[in-house]
Amino acid sequence: MVPRYVVDFKLAEIETIKTDVLIIGSGAAGLYTALQLCDQCSVTLVSKTSLTQSNTRYAQGGIAAVTAENDSPELHRQDTLIAGAGICSHEAVEVLVNEGPNCINDLIRYGTNFDKKDGVLELTKEGAHSKRRILHAHGDATGAEIVRALSEQALKNERITILENHFTIDLITNKGECIGALVLKPDGKKVYIRADATVLATGGAGQLYRYTTNPEIATGDGIAMAYRAGAYIKDVEFIQFHPTALFYPGAPRFLISEAVRGEGAVLRNIKGERFMQHYHPQKELAPRDIVARAIVTEMEKTGSTFVYLDITHESEELIKHRFPTIYQECLRYGLDMVTDWIPVAPAAHYIMGGIKTDLKGETATPRLYACGEVSCTGVHGANRLASNSLAEALVFGLRIANHIRSEISPLDNEIPAVSFSMLRQQTMNNETTVEKRLRLQKLMLRHVGLKRHEKGLTKAIKELDRFIKSFRFKMERPDEFEYVNLLTCASLVANAALQREESRGAHYREDFPERDDLVWRKHIVQSIEDGVLEERSLHDDE
Ligand code: FAD
Ligand code: SIN
Repeated sequence: MVPRYVVDFKLAEIETIKTDVLIIGSGAAGLYTALQLCDQCSVTLVSKTSLTQSNTRYAQGGIAAVTAENDSPELHRQDTLIAGAGICSHEAVEVLVNEGPNCINDLIRYGTNFDKKDGVLELTKEGAHSKRRILHAHGDATGAEIVRALSEQALKNERITILENHFTIDLITNKGECIGALVLKPDGKKVYIRADATVLATGGAGQLYRYTTNPEIATGDGIAMAYRAGAYIKDVEFIQFHPTALFYPGAPRFLISEAVRGEGAVLRNIKGERFMQHYHPQKELAPRDIVARAIVTEMEKTGSTFVYLDITHESEELIKHRFPTIYQECLRYGLDMVTDWIPVAPAAHYIMGGIKTDLKGETATPRLYACGEVSCTGVHGANRLASNSLAEALVFGLRIANHIRSEISPLDNEIPAVSFSMLRQQTMNNETTVEKRLRLQKLMLRHVGLKRHEKGLTKAIKELDRFIKSFRFKMERPDEFEYVNLLTCASLVANAALQREESRGAHYREDFPERDDLVWRKHIVQSIEDGVLEERSLHDDE
């Protein structure tokens, strides 16, 4: 059983900081929302490590938005719906494609330098996009440029208080509404940050898997703490594996952007044969789930653990100009993209589901909002279109800011008598959290990965239920909280994956290999109080 809080506390005995809005997370979603709010509200922005460490920072390909004359929101909408495999929220997609361009203007106003050619924004293409519509910066360092620009703005704004190395342990609720969060300070003491509105912008959960493109911080904290606080968690069985992460002994699973395929790279199996033409008419630029599974099938057929990405037919100038970061990273391992084929394999990359929100970014818990990868707005459906996540983070961050500015009333002045305690044991065995995390990641990769089956899923759930006893132990450190958060997310993902007896988008069941629109045009929604629910998808699209 997952308890309501992972630590014992009495609010009245803890230092309190008061702010109008608490934003948890300093990626694109958190920083941008803070900047949109700070003219009218005091904002406290907490980040569990440094201000600039996030998934956002590693984004390569770019940000999708309609800026070209030969493109239109309608085309962007269609591409997003097709990738989402029949269960996107059409309303949320409309919001994304129509409001994205305005957010791009904001990013430019905040100082983001997107790449230009002859004074015009340069656009690239990625999988399942029908047009070149992806803006990028410094070739393949889009996320780092966005973080640089937004964090510089946040740092010089007096209305934004930035608390780095502050780990949010749990959201505090009182009478069903969120009244802020319990945060661990760098000195090990706890602080209660009391806020009229709380925005979760804590990013994804790539660390659920042994192989991931995500940095260490992506431990699903926001999903887990919102679940404990009573929010609804939706569509989490849909985990996107990026087809092309570097696969080389001793190297991390560094992302080799889809934009490399967008600029002409092809995939070859270890015999040197191209294969994507056998799997999809869009070949290397088919939706990500299709490319990732095709790669695994080729690996299985040829008894290999990787395939190759080949861009050697393109000019040295193009490769070095468009992909300077990737080029340099490969070179560190003796791989020269100009002359060598790059060994790649799929790795966990993005979680399409998350905390269920409405079009204002509001969760079911009053005064609690979510945006960015932690949220499930319905934009991505069963499979995210490349480069839609940064755009989604901004668009819904802005909507949250507008809503908070106009709707949120102040909390009462008095601190309510919220407290929690339960019988907890001292840590029982000698296994470190590093070991526990690795065991969990291997289990997830094996049974809840790219290809799933009832047998494996049931085994994983049984194991996870056994691990869940960790909640009974006394926890004090961020790595311990991260582990139980990962465990919670793992259990949510595995249970939803078992429930969905079909294959759709990123969720592939070997025992139910077909998409079943008759039964499964639905969402799986989970809550601590109501368990696992099924919710009909509202649209009958492709
Ligand atoms: P993040 O950027 O992940 O930020 C989360 C923040 O929350 C961090 O600051 C973290 O420290 C903080 N946090 C988490 N838990 C806690 C806690 N308990 N207490 C306090 N703080 C906490 N998407 C695109 O659209 N285009 C791309 O080109 C692209 N490329 C990508 C490349 C890579 C390698 C990766 C990993 C992802 C890529 N994505 C891309 C996906 C995209 O980067 C992310 O989905 C997006 O950046 C998420 O932004 P976010 O603000 O929601 O979360
Ligand atoms: C990439 O550059 O391939 C990643 C883009 C994304 O995840 O949207």
